[in-house]
Amino acid sequence: MKPIQVGLLGAGTVGSGTFKVLLRNQEEIKRRAGRGIEITMVADLDTARAREVAGEGVKVVADAREVIANPDIDIVIELIGGYGIAKQLVLEAIAAGKHVVTANKALLAVHGTEIFAAAHAKGVMVAFEAAVAGGIPIIKALREGLTANSIQWLAGIINGTTNFILSEMRDKGLDFATVLKEAQRLGYAEADPTFDIEGVDAGHKVTLMSAIAFGIPVQFDKAHIEGITKLAAQDIKYAEQLGYRIKLLGITKRTAQGIELRVHPSLVPSKRLLANVEGAMNAVVVHGDAVGTTLYYGKGAGSEPTASAVIADLVDITRLHTADAAHRVPHLAFHPDAMSDLKVLPMAEVVTSYYLRLRVADQAGVLAKVTGLLATAGISIDAVLQREADEVGGEGSTQTDLIILTHDAREGTVNDVLAELQALPTVLQPIVRIRKEELS
Ligand code: HSE
Repeated sequence: MKPIQVGLLGAGTVGSGTFKVLLRNQEEIKRRAGRGIEITMVADLDTARAREVAGEGVKVVADAREVIANPDIDIVIELIGGYGIAKQLVLEAIAAGKHVVTANKALLAVHGTEIFAAAHAKGVMVAFEAAVAGGIPIIKALREGLTANSIQWLAGIINGTTNFILSEMRDKGLDFATVLKEAQRLGYAEADPTFDIEGVDAGHKVTLMSAIAFGIPVQFDKAHIEGITKLAAQDIKYAEQLGYRIKLLGITKRTAQGIELRVHPSLVPSKRLLANVEGAMNAVVVHGDAVGTTLYYGKGAGSEPTASAVIADLVDITRLHTADAAHRVPHLAFHPDAMSDLKVLPMAEVVTSYYLRLRVADQAGVLAKVTGLLATAGISIDAVLQREADEVGGEGSTQTDLIILTHDAREGTVNDVLAELQALPTVLQPIVRIRKEELS
């Protein structure tokens, strides 16, 4: 059978890896897919770069629409990124009856409902393994491997840039800004790292995983997102003293009230495997009712790791593209007419535990007042750590840090009591609040 023909939009790092791996492993890939897979056309505004990436025998064009218009192309790989032209091209490729493979988490997390509906109507596949956690086959695991389960929750380190920064902050005791500069110098962080450090990239990825885990529409606009820019080195140190590490987690959870969907720094017990995922690596823990807790670990970015996911999608499409559309794996794991309308909970309704740090006047009655307000709000304390004033503020200091770990509490209740605590004259600086996940 003649090879399936693929058109590539965007000849950057991942495109280059896709060419290399397809060529290097072409025999094995063909034996798995049942026929050869060939990228026969590449579009990139930088045609010289595209020519270099593609090598001989591949048609290179500047206009992506030439690829979409080519009737010989069966699958279009979109590696342009962003919500702009990429959205237009993906919709045009679908309208032209092409299957689409994309690594574009931003596009699918924000416009997924429209894109999947268009693909469903046209009977084509939109595959996106590379959009979440790079080379880790987490979409495959959630959509197929764990299909017997009622998934209860998942939590992941799904942004390598921020995990690298947090690892460095902990290892070297450095502050966020210093480590960010170093990460940019080493090429771990983009020149504009906003999406990574503000948690947006992780938000896109957890939104996609949540949709597949629970069969709900993609709803990035409902996700609660906080990044790591406000994290202080001293909180990483205190967390360590209490037996925790701070990680930027993407979390989604099924509760009786609805779905939690959130990204924020979290204390994780140091003994958990997830707490020991260091540097730019990614990992996702998924808890299903039948299987229990499972862990997926690997490289979340990079040329060949991401190409590994792109090619897995190419193989899936090659195997399935002649199958009746109704017999393929649904885009979001659940059939479109069987999606759930479980609501995504506002953050105030989320129940979790907390790390609180209060800079207080070191005088009689302060601790009693603080714990009294927490008790009145029904918030139970799990642990308290108080540093000696001299250690915190230097010789003769009259201030100290009071660190409190709470048991589970409703976020709205915690917000109210934090406002009361902040108003106390003996609380001298803005209170630090970091959520805590036991992941048990
Ligand atoms: N910028 C992402 C990260 C990789 O740092 O993990 C692509 O999603």
